[in-house]
Amino acid sequence: MKTQARPNIGSYEERLKGFSWSAAESELGYTPGADINIAWYCTDRICQQGKGGKTALLWEGLGGVEKRYTFDDLRLASNTIASFLQGLGIAPEERVCLFMDRIPELYLGFLGALKAGAVVQPLFSAFGDESLLVRLENAQTKAILTTRKHVGKVRKIREKLPCLKHIIVVDDDGRKALQEREVAFSLARSKPVEDFKAAATKAESPSVLHYTSGTTGMPKGVRHVHYSLVSQYLTAKWVLDLREDDVYWCTADPGWVTGTSYGIIGPWSQGITQCVLDVGFTAEAWYRFIQKRRVTVWYSAPTAIRALMKAGEEIVKKHDLSSLRHLVSVGEPLNAEAVVWSERVFGLPFHDSYWQTETGSIMITNFPGVKIKPGSMCKPFPGITAALLDMATFEPFHESGKVGLIAIKPGWPAMLRGYWNNQEAFEKKFKNGWYLTGDRATLDQDGYFWFVGRDDDVINTAGHLVSPFEVESALLEHPAVAESAVVSKPDEINMEVVKAFVTLKAGFAESDDLKLEIMNFIRKKLSPLAMPTEIEFIAQLPKTRSGKIMRRMLKAKEWGQEIGDTSTLEND
Ligand code: WT7
Repeated sequence: MKTQARPNIGSYEERLKGFSWSAAESELGYTPGADINIAWYCTDRICQQGKGGKTALLWEGLGGVEKRYTFDDLRLASNTIASFLQGLGIAPEERVCLFMDRIPELYLGFLGALKAGAVVQPLFSAFGDESLLVRLENAQTKAILTTRKHVGKVRKIREKLPCLKHIIVVDDDGRKALQEREVAFSLARSKPVEDFKAAATKAESPSVLHYTSGTTGMPKGVRHVHYSLVSQYLTAKWVLDLREDDVYWCTADPGWVTGTSYGIIGPWSQGITQCVLDVGFTAEAWYRFIQKRRVTVWYSAPTAIRALMKAGEEIVKKHDLSSLRHLVSVGEPLNAEAVVWSERVFGLPFHDSYWQTETGSIMITNFPGVKIKPGSMCKPFPGITAALLDMATFEPFHESGKVGLIAIKPGWPAMLRGYWNNQEAFEKKFKNGWYLTGDRATLDQDGYFWFVGRDDDVINTAGHLVSPFEVESALLEHPAVAESAVVSKPDEINMEVVKAFVTLKAGFAESDDLKLEIMNFIRKKLSPLAMPTEIEFIAQLPKTRSGKIMRRMLKAKEWGQEIGDTSTLEND
């Protein structure tokens, strides 16, 4: 074990006493009622503190191409993008989508859109046209920032999107003619805008719209507000333990909430240097990056850790990883073995952190300096009241070992303010004055939370949620598919992967080629994550008397569980 300086949080117990978010507001210099714009806090304010020359972003892409941006560069670039967006006529609270790989423009575009007062909608660049379409349609998105590599997918669907007025290609090289509604933008060729007044957004003004998948229905847009900054700032400080001289690496893509809350807002609102690696995962590439960048704080995910474990210890020893001082994980259950392993090979345990797109910031976590019980998520963040509710009565209980629903008392700064245009789904998330996470856990005698599983059929593959409903709907669009049921199956690295049971239409014969064709169909339409890694043809799907597909029965088989009482399954 490496010896650690006293963590930012100091004593967890002390922080719980008399906790109030207003101390974080004061640190940020925010007074209730004043303007609050996340992008201003991440750029202009840091420059005002005299840190304009400090490195904000160390970026590395394919082939080792590097770029470096200071906080003053962030300020100027976000000003320039914001003024370009306003010039196009983007009005406050209109949705601006970001659809690109993890290139610098993604980070700068995020800040620029917020500075312009727009609601920023980041979407994972590996999404296919169908995934993109439903999310742009739902949000009535007005503009999309994308690149030559991905604009083809936008072109395919733009006729169905009358609201989408501007398709902004941020790396246009002039070689191919731009098409209808498309406009080129280049930071390098734009005149930097020195003075730009950030939109006068208030605490409750909408900021970020992240789409997340549920069991039923189409993906939901999780609506966050600028005030979320207060939670994200303080959790980054106390859980990620970020300090002035850190080099922080968050491995998540800003298409997902970890990549915005802690890959942009948390660290930059504190003026912390962070690095980004925009290449695919290999153990070699990651270790080399940590060594080269002298990464000190590393925020990653269990799937990546399991993949590193599989790559073995020899490769760890070939690299100098001595800069690392604090490791945190999120997105899926962090296996006890992974904690023990990281302590052995890096001399540091991974600290688990539990939260959701909806919560906007970390809820339950292992704090630096607090005893880790490998396999447990530890305790709620100060200011967060988390409890387990009885699965039938929705009443909180304290019994250790009993499985309950993880619930949180509403009111923390980063809590979602709603689902975009879906009040009904939002209301369903609350019972007896509690916000329901939809996850199950147990508590032990020390008040530590132990994750048990989700309370629905959503598939968590490599830390990303996939809706069985969305995959089933897409499968139906394939000419050979009559019906389907999509479930999770266990996977050594990704924890869960997608499996589809499919019945074929008359005239189609089962074959391996057809399986591959269907898989590819989903990969292109939705995303590589949503692609079933296995397709099983089946003569008939198990159904309830009322005709509902018994997904859980198929799932139980995949997990080697008792199928149990099918009469209860029928009522599901
Ligand atoms: C769901 C939320 C939070 C950012 C990334 C995911 C699962 C998340 C943990 C953890 C066990 C976890 C839950 C949760 N999850 N963190 N530490 N241990 N499970 O955000 O896509 O909204 O997914 O991921 O099931 O509800 P998301």
